[in-house]
Amino acid sequence: MLKKATLKSAVPYTRATTTTTTNLESMNEQQIPAQFNKILIVGLGQLGLPVAKYVKERGFDAYGYDISPKAMDRAEKTAAIKKATDFGEFDVYILCVSTHKPEDMFSPQIDGLFSIVERISKEAKNGALVSIESTIPKGTSKKVFEMLNHRLHVAHAPHRWYALEEKEHGVNQLRVVGGVCNCCLKVALQFYDGSSTNNGILSDHSTPASTIIDDNNSNSNNSSVTHHITSTGDTIDISLPTPTPTSTSSSTSTTISLGIPMHPVSEVEVAEITKIVENADRYLQISFAEDLYLYCQANNINFGELREALNTKWNVNILEPRDGIGGHCLPKDF
Ligand SMILES: NC(=O)c1ccc[n+]([C@@H]2O[C@H](COP(=O)([O-])OP(=O)(O)OC[C@H]3O[C@@H](n4cnc5c(N)ncnc54)[C@H](O)[C@@H]3O)[C@@H](O)[C@H]2O)c1
Repeated sequence: MLKKATLKSAVPYTRATTTTTTNLESMNEQQIPAQFNKILIVGLGQLGLPVAKYVKERGFDAYGYDISPKAMDRAEKTAAIKKATDFGEFDVYILCVSTHKPEDMFSPQIDGLFSIVERISKEAKNGALVSIESTIPKGTSKKVFEMLNHRLHVAHAPHRWYALEEKEHGVNQLRVVGGVCNCCLKVALQFYDGSSTNNGILSDHSTPASTIIDDNNSNSNNSSVTHHITSTGDTIDISLPTPTPTSTSSSTSTTISLGIPMHPVSEVEVAEITKIVENADRYLQISFAEDLYLYCQANNINFGELREALNTKWNVNILEPRDGIGGHCLPKDF
């Protein structure tokens, strides 16, 4: 019988210095959960609603939750998203809540996200996946993992969603994903693109570990428990959601995923920062084009002709000017 220890006491919560080392020990490929079924999307605004629709279209049992009754009502009426009455029994929690101050879109604020995490912490079953899709400051994913007492998987899969080109640049486009631990990333990859392959991201570890699945130790929450034996000899338990048959599969379970191509990174902070840098880069490109346009207007120069001439150079790509720089993503992330 393996001795149980909490993740917190068994593994000090600090990231190792090598880029491919995480705090928890690695899992074998075959120990990744086979299926997810019940999904809760929290935050049903501009981003969360299309996410919820997409999740439902992919065949998952999709539920939603929003503090705004109006947003919840819209999701129920326009997309038949079921309202979650509690936060228990979900396999995946997708967090799409706003991350700026309600009264000031230029200032980041993640209190709302943390209040949701507190609720998940109290009600969720062991081993579920919490995927943060909101834009978040560096360090948020690890903080969330700690708030969940290290008993749920935490990943960050930021968005590149663009309202004006939803078909080409909507929910399903190449996205970056990072996990707080290796197992978190593997579970996230399984959910998002249906694989647990990771381009070799997870292959190296400074502390070798052995991992044993103890099938007899499945808890009442329908999770299987994976025992990770640390280099110090302690045993830690991580629960993974057990496959739940869908309505279309009877005796054999069918693996379904979101079918989104993902680019995994070895550190969750890299995923967090990619989104901020993408937005900062975009902000610079747009503001440069806008300033150049104003300069041309003030100096009687044909902007269109200047732009066309500049863009003949192989490494120059000046954008078209539109309505200035703004929106509720770019200012706060820059
Ligand atoms: N909209 C985009 O184009 C876009 C693109 C990429 C990333 N993002 C990021 O996605 C996140 C959401 O953006 P959005 O555009 O959907 O914002 P939004 O304001 O349209 O929607 C956010 C929703 O979250 C809800 N909410 C806020 N706090 C909550 C809480 N504590 N519990 C439950 N619901 C809560 C709000 O009521 C609202 O319906 C942000 O972090 C944003 O930066 C947005």
